[in-house]
Amino acid sequence: MNAIISPTTTMSRTDAEARVIHTESSAPKPMMTLRNVSKGYGSGATRNEVLKGINMNLRDGEFLAVVGFSGSGKTTLTQLLAGLIRPDSGEITMNEEVVTGPSPDRGLVFQNYSLLPWLTVRGNIALSVDRVFRHWSRAQRHEHVDKFIEMVGLTHAVHRRPHELSGGMRQRVSLARTLAMKPKVLLLDEPLSALDALTRSVMQDEILKIWEEERQTCLMITNDVDEAILVADRIVPLNPGPSANLGPAFTVELDRPRNKTELNHNERFKQLRNAVTNYLVAVRQKSRRDEAAQSTQVRIDRPNISPKDLSLSGRTQL
Ligand SMILES: Nc1ncnc2c1ncn2[C@@H]1O[C@H](COP(=O)(O)OP(=O)(O)O)[C@@H](O)[C@H]1O
Ligand SMILES: [Mg+2]
Repeated sequence: MNAIISPTTTMSRTDAEARVIHTESSAPKPMMTLRNVSKGYGSGATRNEVLKGINMNLRDGEFLAVVGFSGSGKTTLTQLLAGLIRPDSGEITMNEEVVTGPSPDRGLVFQNYSLLPWLTVRGNIALSVDRVFRHWSRAQRHEHVDKFIEMVGLTHAVHRRPHELSGGMRQRVSLARTLAMKPKVLLLDEPLSALDALTRSVMQDEILKIWEEERQTCLMITNDVDEAILVADRIVPLNPGPSANLGPAFTVELDRPRNKTELNHNERFKQLRNAVTNYLVAVRQKSRRDEAAQSTQVRIDRPNISPKDLSLSGRTQL
């Protein structure tokens, strides 16, 4: 299994793709909603419109994967959902209430772990637990931290500091820290992209196992189509920017628990992988064509000067 998004092939949209495109009508209640959300950075000539007119529902209890190329605005989207940044226009709601800032109800796991280097595994997790569950007794909080350290298999490393951990272990701490806050919505921003392939594969199974126990509403950003199909109920592509919007949602109709080895031989898995990959490749190519067309329209005024002759005419060559 390895279909990291890479625009190498072209194919038109298939019937299979058309079949898996989800219809919103039978959808259960949304936990989070984005209505016509746009976000850009900078101003004037250097203004960068990143997301434009995003409409999306994150349904209660679902695992949604957003797939897209680097730089398309995936982190911007997760930060908007987390409430770390505000949209320029449009509205983001959670249970019908407008999101105006960060909240422990929305736990975010970053790509680059972001652990405090001077704290141990326990210290990093306890910091969040102590803040969110202030009203609990010390013993209760201690037990709670232990439970999540065990859940991610780090009981043996509880006193180690981040520099004494491998990348996979650091990401486990980061995951445990967020899960321990018991957020209603789990936002995972490419949590596995910095890991080597083997560790990534192990972590995919762990995330899936934890999610199957907890069944939290979860949005995971990824650049790996296979990973998205393995974990998600629905996959939504983020089209390439600038002014990126979302593509059609693909429903993942594969029984759980899912097993990678078995999926590799599953026809439905292969069809879906092709459909999502072909969609992404097609939108990427269209975006490149649009970019090229735009750049030929730009008129460059050349300066009205001619080069000075610097050759030493008349000088004898030795
Ligand atoms: N704080 C910021 N200030 C200015 N530009 C930013 C900022 N954050 C992201 N960008 C730009 O917005 C675009 C999308 O970035 P990002 O959301 O990180 O994409 P992705 O996560 O898909 O790689 C990129 O062109 C990036 O350079
Ligand atoms: Mg990103």
